Amino acid sequence: MNLKKIPLSLYIHLPWCEKKCPYCDFNISTNKNDIDEKKLIESIIRDIESSYEKINGRRFISIYFGGGTPSLVKAKMIEKIISHLENKNLIQNNAEISFEFNPNEINNKYLDSICSIGINRLSIGIQSFDNKTLNSLERNHDENKSIEALEIISKYHHVKSSIDLIYGVMDQSIDSFVEDLEKFCSYDLIHLSLYQLTIEPNTIFYKKELRIPSEEIIESMELSAKRILNSNGYSQYEVSSWSKKGFEGIHNMNYWTYGDYLGVGPGAHSKITKKNGIYRSLKLKKLSSYIENPIKDNGGLVPPEDIDIDIAMNFLRIKKGVSFEKIQQNCLFVSDQFQNKLYDAIDRGLISSDRFKATKKGFKFLNDTVNLFS
Ligand SMILES: C[S@@+](CC[C@H](N)C(=O)[O-])C[C@H]1O[C@@H](n2cnc3c(N)ncnc32)[C@H](O)[C@@H]1O
Ligand code: SF4
Repeated sequence: MNLKKIPLSLYIHLPWCEKKCPYCDFNISTNKNDIDEKKLIESIIRDIESSYEKINGRRFISIYFGGGTPSLVKAKMIEKIISHLENKNLIQNNAEISFEFNPNEINNKYLDSICSIGINRLSIGIQSFDNKTLNSLERNHDENKSIEALEIISKYHHVKSSIDLIYGVMDQSIDSFVEDLEKFCSYDLIHLSLYQLTIEPNTIFYKKELRIPSEEIIESMELSAKRILNSNGYSQYEVSSWSKKGFEGIHNMNYWTYGDYLGVGPGAHSKITKKNGIYRSLKLKKLSSYIENPIKDNGGLVPPEDIDIDIAMNFLRIKKGVSFEKIQQNCLFVSDQFQNKLYDAIDRGLISSDRFKATKKGFKFLNDTVNLFS
């Protein structure tokens, strides 16, 4: 069993936001100050230092600064983390290093600083170019800010850039969504994360009566997305991810292909393959608790009976599927019944017989397909 062959990514959670969006259930704080920022970065470095057993001699194939809004953190703080990782020789050559931005913080000075320390992929939370949709989402930026941000990043040819768009928002029309997609295509970016608005428990939206578009409108939006994005050279490679050929996000693909990941920062998740099973863990969620004790995590081995569905839930998100060898390489603990579950799904026409890939029908009814592996 060669655990070192399983690819490893690093997720760094930077929790601050200017304001809490009413649809978001990420672990965030709106109370940012320089002292906490400095302390958090020190704790993240301590956390990485104490994770050598999990890292197990590997180097990170990708690093993702997510949040919250990482672009609220000073570039010199980001540099401290990257320098630490470089000094310890923990970053693989050509690793993808992504960084999440809110359009408000895109400016040449900040971009120059973070690109000079190794960030090579930007992910910008545009959400929509329509002020009406942005108002419904209660975002703190407007269309002009988004366009300004994209004009600035279009000069950074050496970094890969992706944006996030949301559909299925209250009072959002199909025409407005089509315009969002067309505007995205006009910037010739390499990647789009396209999310349907989900109403998460514990959010302000959950407690409100919302005029969400009907299922028919959502379906039309999805068909429009497919038509417009395909005709502009983008392919859907995962449930919410579209890219130009060869520009699929390495970091998220590692999650979905059951690679390992180390999560540092408040509330960050990790998944590490150990000799005796799959270990999943969660860091302390509260910022002050994490700063105080970054080493503590609440974790345990995934019960063996849950591993097959865990595998299906991840791999089947990938549109073109994966070879059965890839499953063998990254998943060391499939159950003896996995094969029978697979044959059942193939018989029902939900998974194709030559690759681990949901068929058109299987992708449409993805939850049902995944549940066959329970
Ligand atoms: C951490 S945020 C990105 C960076 C920055 N905080 C921002 O919002 O611009 C990650 C992305 O998750 C998406 N997201 C968050 N909550 C969502 C929800 N309830 N439904 C759909 N997408 C959501 C948004 O598109 C958002 O850009
Ligand atoms: S969507 Fe982004 S900006 Fe809004 S609260 Fe969530 S993480 Fe913060």
